[in-house]
Amino acid sequence: MRSIGIIGSGQMGVGIAQVSAQAGYHVYLSDMNLEIAEKGKAFVGKQLNRLVEKEKIDQQTADTALSRIEPIDRMDPMAAADMIVEAATEREEVKRQIFAAASEILGHQAILASNTSSISITRLAQSVKDPSRFIGVHFFNPVPLMGLVEVIRGLATSDQTAATATDFAKAVGKQPVLVKDSPCFVVNRILLPMLNEAFFALGEGTASMEDIDRGVQLGLGHPMGPITLADMIGLDTLMEILAVLQNDFGDPKYRPAPILRKYVEAGWLGRKTGKGFYDYSGEAPVPTM
Ligand code: CAA
Ligand code: NAD
Repeated sequence: MRSIGIIGSGQMGVGIAQVSAQAGYHVYLSDMNLEIAEKGKAFVGKQLNRLVEKEKIDQQTADTALSRIEPIDRMDPMAAADMIVEAATEREEVKRQIFAAASEILGHQAILASNTSSISITRLAQSVKDPSRFIGVHFFNPVPLMGLVEVIRGLATSDQTAATATDFAKAVGKQPVLVKDSPCFVVNRILLPMLNEAFFALGEGTASMEDIDRGVQLGLGHPMGPITLADMIGLDTLMEILAVLQNDFGDPKYRPAPILRKYVEAGWLGRKTGKGFYDYSGEAPVPTM
């Protein structure tokens, strides 16, 4: 496999673009428009330069990796890609539209993958022409640093597609684990109830957001507290994931905490908008309540 297409140049799409380019793939990077895809490439450029400053890679390696990323404004060039990875907003109707269009241009031997955090791969496969060449590849945030990819087969996914996706995960330096197609797969099924419980505790005034974060860091040894982690993931994404858990399992225990809904309604979506539970406009994050 020599080239991949990435649809969605948000934090996950650009992370996947970076590790793919560093692994030698030519990357077609797209989003709603060319400007967003170009911003995504510029962000990868900054990340690679930081690696040069830290002497983890040399300048030529960084320049070569960056030159492999080609921002595009239409899907057509992805007809040449061996694999297309969708990393757009976590909304089923958005993804379905993308898959319907992508499966029209997908090369005959190529495969189509979704980076969805939660949505049924079997259900998403209904919007493509050939469900045997559709699969889930779930990367973790921040992509360049996290070592895992969950590989999720839908009911119709072929062995060949699963092998190609697994090889891709390994080629970009990740450890693939095979997970059954179940709402939220494995890791998020465990993580989301914990984050949601932290939001309930925060909303009830059990402790301040800083103390909730400090408590989980010091008491459980997590690298970052749940409120900080939620801001990094994106509060809109978490709302969507909880909705999938609640609807697909039919269990009200997954209902989003009211405070999460409030922040999403305010458009305070986390780091990506400059403000979530914490405000990131100054030098250090400041709690918003
Ligand atoms: N992107 C790229 N590099 C980053 C980064 C980012 N977002 N954040 C930090 N780094 C780099 C830093 O530059 C630093 O590099 P050096 O060691 O070379 O100097 C290194 O990572 C360590 O950074 P810090 O010392 O600032 O921070 P840290 O030690 O706390 O590590 C972290 C950062 C790896 C993100 C760590 O805090 C962590 O593991 N946090 C938990 C992340 C997590 O749980 N991710 C999963 C989210 S859930 C998900 O992804 C699934 C889903 O569907 C929602
Ligand atoms: P994000 O909000 O940072 O980026 C989403 C991008 O998708 C935006 O740039 C948006 O413009 C683009 N987009 C929306 N509709 C589109 C369309 N029709 N065509 C092309 N692009 C479109 O979101 P993200 O955090 O990068 O998440 C992307 C996907 O990855 C979601 O499915 C999410 O659940 C999943 N994911 C997220 C995380 C995380 O921690 N944030 C971790 C693993 C997986």
